[in-house]
Amino acid sequence: MRAELLSAFHRRHACHSFTAQPLERADLDFVLEAGRLSPSAFGLEPWHFIVCQTRADKTALQAACFDQPQVGEAAVVVVILARVGELAPDHAYTQRLLEREYPGERFAGGLAMYRAFYTATDIPAWSATQCHIAAANMMTAAAVIGVDSCPIGGYLPDAVAAVLDYDHSHFIPALVLAMGRRCFSGMASEQ
Ligand SMILES: Cc1cc2nc3c(=O)[nH]c(=O)nc-3n(C[C@H](O)[C@H](O)[C@H](O)COP(=O)(O)O)c2cc1C
Repeated sequence: MRAELLSAFHRRHACHSFTAQPLERADLDFVLEAGRLSPSAFGLEPWHFIVCQTRADKTALQAACFDQPQVGEAAVVVVILARVGELAPDHAYTQRLLEREYPGERFAGGLAMYRAFYTATDIPAWSATQCHIAAANMMTAAAVIGVDSCPIGGYLPDAVAAVLDYDHSHFIPALVLAMGRRCFSGMASEQ
């Protein structure tokens, strides 16, 4: 197990050239599940994954990512959104997850602590940081099953947001994750 995991870490690299091979649904689901199961503060799971697979979406995202070609080439681009609006202490989403974290009698105290924390914290930055933890798990999971990836932090947030259909008052882009199979002919430039 140790050797397999270490081998996955060795395999993972920021892939800058993908083949046209599509990603199997089971592989995509495996990677998304690794992200979903990631740790999060207060158990609030402050991420939302948008899976982009159409040529039109990937081309538009490439443009939003300073025209980085691996975004357009990737079989799948997962835009990881950070929850912002839903993390307000009185929002139904946060209350539901806090009830899970602090069941029964513990809820009132847990909510009071979260309320104080929320007031003192840069929530968008805090939320995005946790999305990066999910992204790291997703890249490791991908490497374990032989799928390559490239984390893309180089993007214009407003341009990424303009491509996707989501509630812009509730989420901000945290990271763009390109995934697929590495193109060996393009690897010489990556070494
Ligand atoms: C938050 C974050 C943002 C990144 N953004 C980009 C990016 O926009 N484009 C890119 O090609 N690589 C990006 N990378 C990948 C790094 O450049 C890469 O991980 C680093 O050069 C080390 O190479 P390796 O991952 O192959 O070991 C990003 C990595 C992280 C963690």
